[in-house]
Amino acid sequence: MLLSSVVLALLPLATLASPLSSRSALYADCKTKHSWGGSVPSSLWKYHSTPDPSTLLNLRLGLRPSKFDTLLGHLSETSDPFHERYGKHLSKAEVDELMRPEDETIQEVKEWLDWHGIEDDAISTSSDRWVTITVPISLAETMLNTTYHVYAHTETDETIVRTLEYSLPSHLHDHINLVSPTTYFGTTRGLKLTSFVKSSVAIPSLSNNVTPSSSCNRTITPTCLQDLYNTAGYVPTEIKINRLGITGYLEQFASRADLASFVEQFLPAATNATFTLEEINGGQNNQSDPGVEANLDVQYGTGMAWPTPMTFYSTGGSPPFIPDSFTPTNQNEPYLNWLEFMATVPDNEFPSTVSTSYADDEQTVPADYAAEVCNMFATLGVRGASLIFGSGDAGVGSGNCLTNNGTNIVVFQPTFPASCPYVTVVGGTAHISPEVATTDFPSGGGFSTQFPRPSYQSAVVSAFLKKLGSTNAGLFNPNGRAYPDVAAQAQDFQVVVGGEVVSVDGTSCATPTFAGVIALLNDFKLAKDGKTLGFLNPLLYAHPSALNDITIGTNEGCGTNGFSAGVGWDPVTGLGTPDFVKLQAIV
Ligand SMILES: *[C@@H]1O[C@H](CO)[C@@H](O)[C@H](O)[C@H]1NC(C)=O
Ligand SMILES: *[C@@H]1O[C@H](CO)[C@@H](O)[C@H](O)[C@H]1NC(C)=O
Ligand SMILES: *[C@@H]1O[C@H](CO)[C@@H](O)[C@H](O)[C@H]1NC(C)=O
Ligand SMILES: *[C@@H]1O[C@H](CO)[C@@H](O)[C@H](O)[C@H]1NC(C)=O
Ligand SMILES: *[C@@H]1O[C@H](CO)[C@@H](O)[C@H](O)[C@H]1NC(C)=O
Repeated sequence: MLLSSVVLALLPLATLASPLSSRSALYADCKTKHSWGGSVPSSLWKYHSTPDPSTLLNLRLGLRPSKFDTLLGHLSETSDPFHERYGKHLSKAEVDELMRPEDETIQEVKEWLDWHGIEDDAISTSSDRWVTITVPISLAETMLNTTYHVYAHTETDETIVRTLEYSLPSHLHDHINLVSPTTYFGTTRGLKLTSFVKSSVAIPSLSNNVTPSSSCNRTITPTCLQDLYNTAGYVPTEIKINRLGITGYLEQFASRADLASFVEQFLPAATNATFTLEEINGGQNNQSDPGVEANLDVQYGTGMAWPTPMTFYSTGGSPPFIPDSFTPTNQNEPYLNWLEFMATVPDNEFPSTVSTSYADDEQTVPADYAAEVCNMFATLGVRGASLIFGSGDAGVGSGNCLTNNGTNIVVFQPTFPASCPYVTVVGGTAHISPEVATTDFPSGGGFSTQFPRPSYQSAVVSAFLKKLGSTNAGLFNPNGRAYPDVAAQAQDFQVVVGGEVVSVDGTSCATPTFAGVIALLNDFKLAKDGKTLGFLNPLLYAHPSALNDITIGTNEGCGTNGFSAGVGWDPVTGLGTPDFVKLQAIV
């Protein structure tokens, strides 16, 4: 859809406010929007080369929404179980209205683009708020007073076009939240949370019991999880309106044949299990090239929530990138592409629950980019979606944990999007009776350095910090958004990949498991009052006893023992693992 036909048509050139001479002075006064201070923020990316200045860049401008604070007010009321507006989610049309930029914003941006000779027909958008222009790198460099370079991933051949800093005319800082691609250096392959693939030792139990079979202590199947989390026997009824979404990035494809084989071996009742495919931004689903992550997510989403309809969102544009003469390197940023797509999904196709098993080190994500992506998660929550993310597989931090802001000191390294306060984050557990924090890898947990602690968790986090005392003092931000919120099993999952059963560990196992339980809870809620749960955290923190508190285990990292699980919320297993029967009682 061309933006010119949507928004800019309101503003023909003749209405431009300022004479060109004063525009010239206005655009000469520019101010840094984001800077990494001269060095690449992630050791995974190294300078590779200077791109040809005529290379075309798809530059996206995220315009400031007119009423985002109002939207956050709605989110806070409609997700608060004690508020009279609890569950009264907004429609797409209502969210679009709140997110629409002011006319003044559109006008200022339009005048700036026009000044640089960018015609209306070079502009397109998927929603009124995102303006995409296709320009040579040389022009982007002039507009943003910057220099783009090609960077190569140190462990793969992938290349990306990025810059270490960029500027905007001072007066546009109030109108443009983000320009992309600029300074976001995703750790790409590192996004994938699956940490270990082991050969299978499966002797699964296929019959549901009140207590899980002892084999579940070392081998996880859907039956184990149904028993452990008390969903066994629940029959979904709202399968015409409820929907579980699974996101896939990084050319991770979900195989239909592997799903059929999984179901045959581990969930025979689900003979017709399938999923709908949404291909976003050139995303594919090559059936000859199944990915462990995507298969795991789709198989355990099915394992927990079948026959709830499921959509696999395959978002493309990530490495391995197929070069063509115009765009020789990857310019895309997966969350933004997916979020832009979700903003266009009509209410009757909107998922109630979405599972995402990908993460970045928070310090490699520019603050303005993280804020924009996190705010866009809030726009999905306020429409009634429960967004579930994994906490990561590296305890309190991966690698050497050195800061990248020039100070070069060791601090805990939280992950993003887990650090965003508008999503629900799942840590990992293992074994049964007792269920403990993961033992084969340290489950991700900690405190954001970018996002402050939201009020819904302030009581339990304060209580935890009081017990913690001076342990780890100085290594984390005690005022930051703390995660995980909850936990689920994350070791020894039996997954079919390319026809073979393999055994997988990682919080990417816990994420679709918890999301599947929430998809069932959404089914229950829809049957009860026609509403979905939406953003979950205020509800969960108001009823910690609806989760099984996990009190044993640690999440070491950064050369420390990390944090310890204990009674109540902790940054290893959060509030604990789900008990579906108790959760039904609180919704
Ligand atoms: C553009 O950036 C350079 C540094 O890269 C700086 O010296 C110069 O002042 C900037 N120009 C404007 C107009 O801000
Ligand atoms: C489960 O496995 C753990 C670790 O191997 C072991 O310590 C525990 O006793 C086992 N529990 C049961 C119920 O078998
Ligand atoms: C799959 O089977 C279940 C149980 O028989 C049924 O309720 C559901 O409608 C079926 N789903 C599809 C997509 O055919
Ligand atoms: C699908 O994957 C197979 C196996 O990796 C590969 O040979 C084939 O070229 C891929 N097809 C497309 C359309 O990318
Ligand atoms: C660098 O990051 C650390 C850890 O987040 C922080 O404590 C420190 O204030 C930062 N320093 C600068 C100069 O930004």
